[in-house]
Amino acid sequence: MIRAERDKRGERCTVPDAHGSRHADLLQWWATERRDLPWRCTRDPWLVLVSEVMLQQTQVDRVLPYFELFAERWPTPGHFAQAELSDVLAAWQGLGYPRRARNLWHAAKVISSDHGGELPVDLDSLLGLPGVGPYTARAVQAFAFGIDAGVVDTNVGRILARWTGRRLSGAEAQQLADELVPPGESWRWNQAMMDLGARVCTKRDPSCGGCPVEQWCAWAGSDSPDPADRSAGVSARQAPFEGSDRQARGRLLAALSGGAIKRSQAAEAMRLGRDETRAYRLIDGLIAEGLVTADGDQLRLG
Ligand code: ADE
Repeated sequence: MIRAERDKRGERCTVPDAHGSRHADLLQWWATERRDLPWRCTRDPWLVLVSEVMLQQTQVDRVLPYFELFAERWPTPGHFAQAELSDVLAAWQGLGYPRRARNLWHAAKVISSDHGGELPVDLDSLLGLPGVGPYTARAVQAFAFGIDAGVVDTNVGRILARWTGRRLSGAEAQQLADELVPPGESWRWNQAMMDLGARVCTKRDPSCGGCPVEQWCAWAGSDSPDPADRSAGVSARQAPFEGSDRQARGRLLAALSGGAIKRSQAAEAMRLGRDETRAYRLIDGLIAEGLVTADGDQLRLG
């Protein structure tokens, strides 16, 4: 369904003939180097929101099968709002950061109850949805509604800092991102920026020699430290997963996807040995976040 929509709309880009501008250079590069991703084959605001929530903190390759599954199973906010949270959490299993799934489910309910089942267009209403922050709200504006908004994720934040040659504040990065959007080209421009960050202007090993917009970059070829470090929107290095609370919580949610388990079995499911104190602390956290319910001694998803 998504692919057909892409073909019908003829989404493949044409390049503006103006040369010698950062925009033309980047969009020309992107015409051949773009990644074909399923969420780029739709303008459906709900599916754009689902993809962007999944892509927060998670690599594209890992998101692909989950996006396809969710789009197929819950194609509208109405379908999603009516789902059981436990089914949503079970389907999210393995993608990580399950709070995102719970927030998305709450957002679907708000969209259904307050917005007639359609995603709102304006920034404030989008920001009012659970789990939707400045990044996701603008991604929906740009990728679903074609609004001229700059989308600052970690890739884009890194590019902006390098182009400018200095660490940026959140307000500076957003303002610059907004100013750079060529009017009416928000969709293509923002997607191209993300691909440049993923393929060329990477975090650790940027290929400045192969960069189509190297001449516009203040940092390329300089010896100074990377201005992207701790610049706005650029995510810090993640804490190790192995042995983390996140890993133990994930293990419990995975076990609960198979059905209820007793509280006394939780430490084992989390592979915490005899550290019941830690297990109970993590369970309490999961209950407080609405990811697990306790019914007497029984723990369940949702
Ligand atoms: N990361 C966040 N949004 C993305 C998108 N639309 N395409 C590729 N990667 C992304």
